[in-house]
Amino acid sequence: MRLPLIAGNWKMNTNLAEAVKLVNDMRPHLDAIHDVEKVVCPPFISLSAVHEILKGSQLKVGAQNLHFEEKGAFTGEISPLMLTGLCEYVILGHSERRQYFQETDEVVNKKLKTALKFGLKPILCVGEKLAEYEDGLTSEVVTGQLKASLKDVTLSENLVVAYEPIWAIGTGKAANGTQANAVISRIRKIIQELSTESTSQCVRILYGGSVTMDNIQEFAGMPAIDGALVGGASLKPDQFISIVKQTAQINCHSQE
Ligand code: 13P
Repeated sequence: MRLPLIAGNWKMNTNLAEAVKLVNDMRPHLDAIHDVEKVVCPPFISLSAVHEILKGSQLKVGAQNLHFEEKGAFTGEISPLMLTGLCEYVILGHSERRQYFQETDEVVNKKLKTALKFGLKPILCVGEKLAEYEDGLTSEVVTGQLKASLKDVTLSENLVVAYEPIWAIGTGKAANGTQANAVISRIRKIIQELSTESTSQCVRILYGGSVTMDNIQEFAGMPAIDGALVGGASLKPDQFISIVKQTAQINCHSQE
């Protein structure tokens, strides 16, 4: 049985004071919800403060990126050595990194290997563009991204994959649950091909793209979908808490 996971990707939002307030506002409510793993991914400058606030909490911390080198002359970059001890997860290969910072699958592959080497759990993002979706290329694109990003990686349950169709990110137009479930089942098949049946059954695969408290049930209720990577709604305590709560309720019922 995979424990559902809801991760909030705050992206480039919140200064230090706002991040501290946001996590303080959400912590008691989220700590009271069980049967779901909860993660917040603030901007780098707030990671340390958020980590301090969450000591002793079940709410976990993730980073939004890392550099694949351990240290050196890489101005402006953040190395895995700086993240270990501060966070458990790291988002890698987000479509915004691919689109605006020219991150290729090869770079994502290097970052993923580095994350695993330093004990950070990657949340690997994959997903197709609108034109690719319209041309029926979703499966092909996602398969290519997965195979290249996971090349020569020994897979384990530490890997999380997030299927985020680019056309659904920040647009208010979420995918439909049935479609997302089909893509995610396909992703699990690929992971099985790249590892083993038992590993593929342990890897959690999330949906991301315009998830809100009004549509989370459509995704969390699907058999192949193990939770969500939430952008905009993770900055609103009411929304994020409700998303986590509803996911927990669905999980309880599915275990009855
Ligand atoms: P939105 O939930 O704002 O669409 O963002 C999704 C996302 O990109 C999470 O990583």
